[in-house]
Amino acid sequence: MKKVLVAGATGYLGKFVVREFKKQGFWVRALARNPRKLEKVGPFLEPRVKDYIDEIFIGEITKPETLRGICKDIDIVFSSIGITRQKDKLTFRDVDYQGNKNLLDIAIDSSVDKFIFISIFNAQIYQYLSGVKAREDFVRELKKSGLKYTIIRPTGYFSDMSEFLNMARRGRVYLIGKGENRMNPIHGADLAEVCVKAASIDKEEINAGGPEIFSYREIAELAFHVLEKKPRITSIPQGLINILINAIRVFNTKNAEILEFFTAAMTNDSIAPTYGNHFLKDYYEELLNASNMSMHYP
Ligand SMILES: NC(=O)c1ccc[n+]([C@@H]2O[C@H](COP(=O)([O-])OP(=O)(O)OC[C@H]3O[C@@H](n4cnc5c(N)ncnc54)[C@H](OP(=O)(O)O)[C@@H]3O)[C@@H](O)[C@H]2O)c1
Repeated sequence: MKKVLVAGATGYLGKFVVREFKKQGFWVRALARNPRKLEKVGPFLEPRVKDYIDEIFIGEITKPETLRGICKDIDIVFSSIGITRQKDKLTFRDVDYQGNKNLLDIAIDSSVDKFIFISIFNAQIYQYLSGVKAREDFVRELKKSGLKYTIIRPTGYFSDMSEFLNMARRGRVYLIGKGENRMNPIHGADLAEVCVKAASIDKEEINAGGPEIFSYREIAELAFHVLEKKPRITSIPQGLINILINAIRVFNTKNAEILEFFTAAMTNDSIAPTYGNHFLKDYYEELLNASNMSMHYP
């Protein structure tokens, strides 16, 4: 039986990946800083995964001394580790680049067979963003490591699309620019199938998006449709957002960079080869049902 290490197992994609590796018959070790997150369904409906894990390894990716033995007897390393909504003081450089590099160094020493890493679709357009640069600098390290590797490059995740539903519930969706750019977002379960398949095929890079293509305006309209509300959508000119980003940067660089990332995403097309069979309308309905349930059963 092949053994896999899943780094990022407490996150949106990582939880689906843990479940899929187990389903496909792998022995699974999961890296977690806070193992209690493995026991709960996540905020974006990612599954509870504790029962799919053979061994939990507690560690902090930026502290190599906490990672000793993490790759012992491991055949495949999967990493989706990176900063998305984390509120700690670490930077993209610390985590997305150096943290993954710490793991790669151990994987090389432990002679693992393959390293699977999640970066981003169309990264070349976004290299000026420090989060993307950090991940792509790691990609360069991985390519010269001598290990077999697959770099998976997804479009936006369904977890990020939940923000449109949240805004619609509050009464108005704000778009950056006119909202005419298009993308095909992907569900974590569909992307997990692509990730796990990568363990057994010789492909160095895979671009992946979901089965439906939307403009950002259509995503906003879909959110209102599911809520059975009349759409209220406001376009904010990109120039205004740029002023806001510069103002935020004075106080909080990481938040400015996250807004900069969403601005870049919403003002470029992002349509990758399609995978999977999860649809955004169904996901919005599931999110709505889950939040109605938790209002009734706190
Ligand atoms: N969201 C998108 O639309 C999108 C699109 C394309 C590519 N991506 C890439 O996909 C990656 C995964 O996305 P996601 O939505 O699954 O992210 P996520 O839910 O935030 O998961 C990130 C994982 O990394 C872990 N992590 C972060 N800092 C760590 C540290 N210092 N030490 C140990 N673990 C740490 C997190 O652990 P904790 O739970 O302890 O924080 C979590 O398990 C992202 O990094 C991003 O670059 C995302």
